[in-house]
Amino acid sequence: MSSLPTHLQLGSLRVDTPVVLAPMAGITNAAYRRLCAEQGAGLYVCEMITSRGLVEGDETTKKMLTFDELETVRSVQLYGTDPVYVGKAAEILCAEYGVAHIDLNFGCPVPKVTRKGGGGALPWKRNLLGEILEKAVSAAAPYGVPVTMKTRKGIDADHLTFMDAGRIAQESGCAAIALHGRTVEQAYSGEADWAAIAELKASLDHIPVLGNGDIWEAADAVRMVEETGVDGVVVGRGCLGRPWLFRDLAAAFTGEQVATLPDLGEVSAMLRRHAELLVEHMGEERGCKEIRKHITWYLKGFPAGGELRHRLALVDTLADLDALIAELDPTAPFPVQELGTPRGRQGAPRKRVVLPEGWLDDTDGHGCVIAEDAHDTTGG
Ligand SMILES: Cc1cc2nc3c(=O)[nH]c(=O)nc-3n(C[C@H](O)[C@H](O)[C@H](O)COP(=O)(O)O)c2cc1C
Repeated sequence: MSSLPTHLQLGSLRVDTPVVLAPMAGITNAAYRRLCAEQGAGLYVCEMITSRGLVEGDETTKKMLTFDELETVRSVQLYGTDPVYVGKAAEILCAEYGVAHIDLNFGCPVPKVTRKGGGGALPWKRNLLGEILEKAVSAAAPYGVPVTMKTRKGIDADHLTFMDAGRIAQESGCAAIALHGRTVEQAYSGEADWAAIAELKASLDHIPVLGNGDIWEAADAVRMVEETGVDGVVVGRGCLGRPWLFRDLAAAFTGEQVATLPDLGEVSAMLRRHAELLVEHMGEERGCKEIRKHITWYLKGFPAGGELRHRLALVDTLADLDALIAELDPTAPFPVQELGTPRGRQGAPRKRVVLPEGWLDDTDGHGCVIAEDAHDTTGG
């Protein structure tokens, strides 16, 4: 236990618990980040935004850059394929939005992103990756803002990129690299390869390495650190419908073994708090629409009945939500059989990773063929 890291240092930014909320499109908005931050210390990353959208002043992109009043450390994930746009976007984030951390997305497996050579496809072009990182790092440096990158193992088992990406991140002045132990081809299927995370960690001695993939409980985070030697962990699907996981994680990194097992009354209160924060940030109509997808995760494994779940999935006011919550049995104990099991996206591997024509022919390309879509905020 004594070997667990006590904090995470990203350049000049100190994160008191070495735990990062994974950026998740459609999930990690201001309301959710606040909800998680109420549970425990960590770094809570905003949903991915596109650099082109930001540079061109796209309204949807600007709206996504909403922060909670209590969010003192603003952390944003940027997507981009063009070094110039990424540099400009990094500058805007620092100068106009007061961000304290920028993460760059090189892991997205979504076909409409990889088709343009973006996300998880991009690190195949080593020079381009280096150029993007350098532009972002030098734009953020005058503000003292650390830039990190998040990536996957590679495009598929025959086209791995993570080891080179780590070296390039270190050489480009990145403050850390996070590795999701799957390839783009695997999407969210199978198990994350923690051995690859360990390999990356062993190869880098100047920057922290963060491990990502399949942390469902706080004990998994401790095990990942022990097995791979990583400096911190990035947690995505494990906290869907379970923001209290951040409480357990914060305790775990101080050596305590805590597994919060809220009963249905406590879970309903958390769900209600989440809805209230969404409504505060987005208004009642949008906030209630947003909470719908979270309800399934909150209620996973609890006795709620199909009909009540169905009505909850259609909720459109906070008053309705309260009335429906009142029908749940608050004394129902936490379904312990759910502990340690996957939640959220899983699915099957991709049959084929969609890439730009001739993408795999060489690894040296520059930012020539790539066109970024200003509204492309699918994430992944
Ligand atoms: C709904 C959803 C949206 C995601 N959006 C993003 C994103 O915008 N940027 C990113 O780097 N990763 C994204 N991811 C991937 C997660 O950040 C994370 O790498 C992945 O889920 C593996 O970690 P986990 O096993 O802890 O979930 C997304 C994942 C999910 C489930």
